[in-house]
Amino acid sequence: MIKYNTPEISNGVYAVGAKDRNRRLFDALVPLPRGTTFNSYLVKGAEKTALIDSVGPGFEQELLDKISSLTDLSKLDYVVMNHAEPDHSTALGAVVRESRATLYTTEKGAPMAARYSGVPAERIKTIKDGDTIELGGKKLRFIESPWLHWPETMFTYLEENKVLFSCDFFGAHAPDGTYDDDIPDIISLAKGYFAEIMMPLRPFCKKGLDKVAALEITTIAPSHGPVYRNPSRIIDAYRSWVAGETLRKAVIVYVTTWGATEQMANCMAEALAKEGINPKLYNLASFDMGQLAEDLVDSPALVVGSPTLFSGLHPYMNNTLNLIKLLKPPVKFGAAICSYGWGKGALKQAQEFFENAKIEFVGAVDSYGPPHDEEIQKITELAGQLAAKISAPVVN
Ligand code: FEO
Repeated sequence: MIKYNTPEISNGVYAVGAKDRNRRLFDALVPLPRGTTFNSYLVKGAEKTALIDSVGPGFEQELLDKISSLTDLSKLDYVVMNHAEPDHSTALGAVVRESRATLYTTEKGAPMAARYSGVPAERIKTIKDGDTIELGGKKLRFIESPWLHWPETMFTYLEENKVLFSCDFFGAHAPDGTYDDDIPDIISLAKGYFAEIMMPLRPFCKKGLDKVAALEITTIAPSHGPVYRNPSRIIDAYRSWVAGETLRKAVIVYVTTWGATEQMANCMAEALAKEGINPKLYNLASFDMGQLAEDLVDSPALVVGSPTLFSGLHPYMNNTLNLIKLLKPPVKFGAAICSYGWGKGALKQAQEFFENAKIEFVGAVDSYGPPHDEEIQKITELAGQLAAKISAPVVN
């Protein structure tokens, strides 16, 4: 059997999860250039032992082997399910079958544990916010934190060690290292994860942060990515992202068929840069969706560039705008730079998107074929209007 690494991340707390370096997509949507982790933690008290969350498909045996290397699996007392999504719950059924453990979860989590993980109903105990279980010199407290990321989610707090097991909250798809300071670009990776999983749920994230603020925390042990032994790093970053604090930047998404819209997007980017706004261009024929989502976390402006295709936006643009609508970024200002040949339509649909998303529509340029001096001038003026909006003091 492989001699696995099970680092003791806090006194009596061991990381027993798995690293999935081969996975390249999450939720059949999110690119994972480096893979991800499914974190699970074994907490050993003087009298009882608990497992916090489990691992995703394909890593069940690895988890069982890691637990067995630290304790007698058959005598495991408690399993805590902070979240029922299969990346954390797949192995729970096997752990419960191989042990005498009782599974603790929220009221909404109980039927999910039965359905997703095959845990018998008589082995499931439902917790309420603030409930605790005693391990002997170590006490686990449950903190309900719904919609981070599903309705059943909760945090678990190890009182004596001041360790917060936050599950998806504060996570990152980052399989290298054990601790946050092992990964130089961890905040960027966490930002991408936030964009894809947490940004659509910012009102719930705000409540989650309020609960975190009420705790004394020395270590955050999430269910993806490294353990934070510098918890203020990630908490401060989340405060900014959750509040929707934006930078002097603009995201420009565009599709081009014969180059007209690309010229317009480049013209917009140059004009914005001259105004001191950082343009982030994405050609939707070939782009990294994760990078776009990350850029949307702190961009106050979105520019849509599309040729008219059969009386409307290019299908790639429709896909991307649907995704942006789902992600609910803190974009406040929108503009469109479109082109047409024998019939118009793209610009109208772009404007409708901004109106439906309640994003202020600052203006648009619609070019018949490739842009000439007149359209270039209009785009330059539109960039100036966008820059003025971005630079204006925020009025709440
Ligand atoms: Fe990592 Fe919502 O599961």
